[in-house]
Formats: sequence, structure tokens, C-alpha cells
Amino acid sequence: MNIFVTGGAGYIGSICAEELLNAGHDVTVYDNLSEGHRSAVDDRAVFIHADLSDRDAIAGAMRDAKPAAVLHFAGDALVGESMSNPSKYFRNNVCNGLNLLDAAEAAGVKKFVFSSSCATYGPPDRVPMTEDLPQRPINPYGESKLLFERMLYWHGQIHGLEFVALRYFNAAGASAQFGEHHRMETHLIPNVLKVALGQAPNCQIFGTDYPTPDGTCIRDYIHIVDLAQAHILALEPGRRGFYNLGNGGGYSVRQVIAACEKITHQPIPYVEKPRRAGDPPRLVASAEKAMRELGWKPQFPGLEQIIADAWRWHVAHPRGYAD
Ligand code: UFG
Repeated sequence: MNIFVTGGAGYIGSICAEELLNAGHDVTVYDNLSEGHRSAVDDRAVFIHADLSDRDAIAGAMRDAKPAAVLHFAGDALVGESMSNPSKYFRNNVCNGLNLLDAAEAAGVKKFVFSSSCATYGPPDRVPMTEDLPQRPINPYGESKLLFERMLYWHGQIHGLEFVALRYFNAAGASAQFGEHHRMETHLIPNVLKVALGQAPNCQIFGTDYPTPDGTCIRDYIHIVDLAQAHILALEPGRRGFYNLGNGGGYSVRQVIAACEKITHQPIPYVEKPRRAGDPPRLVASAEKAMRELGWKPQFPGLEQIIADAWRWHVAHPRGYAD
């Protein structure tokens, strides 16, 4: 298939584009490079450097590419930042996303796969979390992803768009070629690995008084290559709906630091800090629906494998991408 990938120069989009190409699809990447990197775009992909706020640019690119499907990764994705700059999240994730939806509709696109998030749920009443839980986000990031889900739903109802919204839990790890390099790194695993690389004296634990066994937040980490595979499965005709993607196991911040020490064979000092605004205490997926309906089966469910692959990439690219 001919696939149009927004945000294909970013961490998750670049690896999904790589896996799509490996699976024999043609890929056009559309990215403004605000967070992404030109060298993270696979050489086999067509690259368009443009912004989703530019309605003419996205409409023209979509008309030229005439894709069979759109995979939409472009967006802002930092919970903490969204608590201080909500407009950025609503403008980019909602308004610019609507430009994309309009362009896709005008070009006759029939299939749409969206990078959604477990942040759309807010603190859950129970874990593991199934897709039928109420969605009550506690940060603008999660709210912006939920709003886009609702727009997709109505485009499905009214225009017959076949869409899949994949609600990721915590993406981590690397492929052989591509990995995680954010210009402003806020994510736990890369920040902990920076200490092992000698690039920071210590890492930070945000909040030690959560109602969890060791007082730190629990997250469900999912290997980036497994995440990419779910997108390929979602492209199959007839697949539609909302799916959680995670491994169903939760690890606390302290457990992640301990696993990083084990993988890197280095002590990793930490400093305990107050809670970070907008963080739910515990997010753990039930991905049963994705397994049952999409036929998804994670190949790398273990935290240590995920961290080992991230570590391998960071050792090979200690400063990340050159651009
Ligand atoms: N944390 C630390 N120290 C750090 C970084 C993070 O203690 O240096 C903590 C956070 O407070 C949180 C946990 O580690 O409790 C995980 O934080 P991340 O920033 O790695 O990930 P988040 O869970 O906040 O968010 C990420 C993505 C979102 C996505 C979400 C789904 O940024 O896009 O996972 O859970 F929606």
C-alpha cells in the first residue's frame, strides 16, 4: 500500500515508517522537523518537509501522494509541557490534526490510523485498563488526543472513514537503525540512560508519595518495534476502532532505574523530587482486544529487553541524531 505518515521523522513515526517499508509498503513522510530529525527518515521513504498548520501544503501533498492510508503520528506529546502550555497542545494536536483530516477526506483517503494515548483515560478506576473505561484526562495532552479521537469517530460516522486509534502506553526501546532522541528529553528511560552514558550526574524521581508499593509512578512500557507492528496490522481492511497497546505489566520508576543499572552494569544515582504535574499514579494496559481482533502479539514484552535495545542505540548514538 501507499502510506502517508505524518510525524515520520519523530521517534515513533520513524520506526513505524521503517517497519512499513520492511513490510513492502511505499511511504511518504510529512514532518515539520520541529521534534523529528531528517536523518531519522528512512532513505527509502519520500520526505516532505512541511507543517500541518499549512492547509494548502497538506492538501497538496495528500493530492499528490494519493495514499491508501494515513498514519498520523505528528503531534506534541509531553504531559508536563501541556500543563504549562495547553494552547500548544490544542492548536497542534487538534486544529492542525483537523487540517490533516480535511485533506485526507478531500483526497478520498479511506483508512486512518491514529497515535492516541492512554493519557486519554486519566487515572483509571481499575487496572489493567480496558478500552471501555471512562475517558477523563487530567492533562491537556490527554484531552487533545481524546478530542482527535472524537473527530475521527464523527468522520467515521459521517464520511465512512475506516479508522483505528491506537492508545499507546509508554513507548521505549529502539530498532537496529532508529531510536529515541528528543531535543528536550523528559522521558524516564532515556534520562536514566544518560546517567549511565556519563552525560548527567544523576537522574530524578518525580514523586515518591504515590499510592503504589514503592511510592513512585507505575507505567506499562512497550517496545517500539512491537508498537510499529500493531500499525501494520491495523492497516488490514475492515480493522476499525480503539485499541490499547501495552504489555499488561507495570513497572515503577524505581524498578526502571534498577533495571537500567542491571543492563548498563553501572550505578545510577538519583535525586527524589516532588511530583510532576499531570502524572497519574498507575497506568497499565489490557491489550487483549488488540491481540484478539488485530492478531497483535508483542515479540519483546520484557522491560530488560526494551531497555537493552534502547541502551544499544544510545551507546551507538551518544549524541542522538546529528541534525
Ligand atoms: N519520570 C521521572 N523522572 C524522569 C522522567 C520521568 O520520575 O526524569 C517519571 C514520570 O513522572 C512518570 C514516569 O516516570 O511517572 C514516566 O514518565 P515519562 O515522561 O517517561 O512518560 P509519561 O508516562 O509521562 O508519558 C509518556 C508519553 C506520553 C504518553 C504516555 C502514556 O510522553 O506521550 O507516556 O503513558 F501518553
